[in-house]
Amino acid sequence: MTRLLVVGGSGFIGRELCRQAVEAGHEVRSVSHGGRPDIGVGPGTNWAESVEWTSADLFAPNVWRDRLRGVDSVVHAVGIAHESPKTGRTFERLNGDSAILTALEAERAGVETFVFLSSAAKYPTARGAYLQSKRRAEQAIAGLNLDTVVLRPGPVYGPDQPHFPRPLNVLCQLVDRVPAITTRLGTARPIAVEQVGRVALDSAVDPDQRLLTVEDIVTA
Ligand SMILES: NC(=O)c1ccc[n+]([C@@H]2O[C@H](COP(=O)([O-])OP(=O)(O)OC[C@H]3O[C@@H](n4cnc5c(N)ncnc54)[C@H](OP(=O)(O)O)[C@@H]3O)[C@@H](O)[C@H]2O)c1
Repeated sequence: MTRLLVVGGSGFIGRELCRQAVEAGHEVRSVSHGGRPDIGVGPGTNWAESVEWTSADLFAPNVWRDRLRGVDSVVHAVGIAHESPKTGRTFERLNGDSAILTALEAERAGVETFVFLSSAAKYPTARGAYLQSKRRAEQAIAGLNLDTVVLRPGPVYGPDQPHFPRPLNVLCQLVDRVPAITTRLGTARPIAVEQVGRVALDSAVDPDQRLLTVEDIVTA
């Protein structure tokens, strides 16, 4: 049993990771702005009862630092695809600084493993800082006293994908079934959220590879 803290555990990928981790018998905590996500009630939602949800801004670590006590692995699943600089939500801050800050807190708390959800490529509409901030964080955390694992997925699709228009989500799902197309897409190859969640969880439990590319994630 691994004790896991998912920063951004209420998000699209983080939530799937939490679900799989609970179902695999791990102890799961999450820190995110909103705390427990609204996933409704009924069949398939019981897992959420087993997660310790904390509502906090990760940039105020004094509020959530105690959640790191006794934790074996931290997964950072926070990032933005669209900026709003007026509110301070920039790529540099949310995709880069947030990962570095979380990793430093994890190191200080004696956590063994840190899994960072990075990205293979930038969104077509995003400025270059999207990917630069991810790479900057990858470099910074590599030097810390932690077993770090970096996942670099391309577009991630799945039920209730909140970031793509619905037709794009459906298209990704269809494309993913056609090897003649996926093998040509490179870093733009879509990956199911269940697969990304599983690979992130496996990495948190058994960090045997430091960098996982799109190909590594698909074939893991
Ligand atoms: N989705 C994709 O297609 C894709 C592709 C490649 C890489 N990635 C990477 O995978 C990671 C997760 O992506 P995602 O799609 O799951 O993101 P998401 O759905 O937007 O989830 C982000 C999570 O981070 C939390 N969060 C944001 N700012 C926070 C703050 N200041 N303090 C505390 N919590 C905060 C959010 O909580 P609230 O909602 O409560 O604010 C939410 O739980 C990101 O790093 C992203 O770059 C995603």
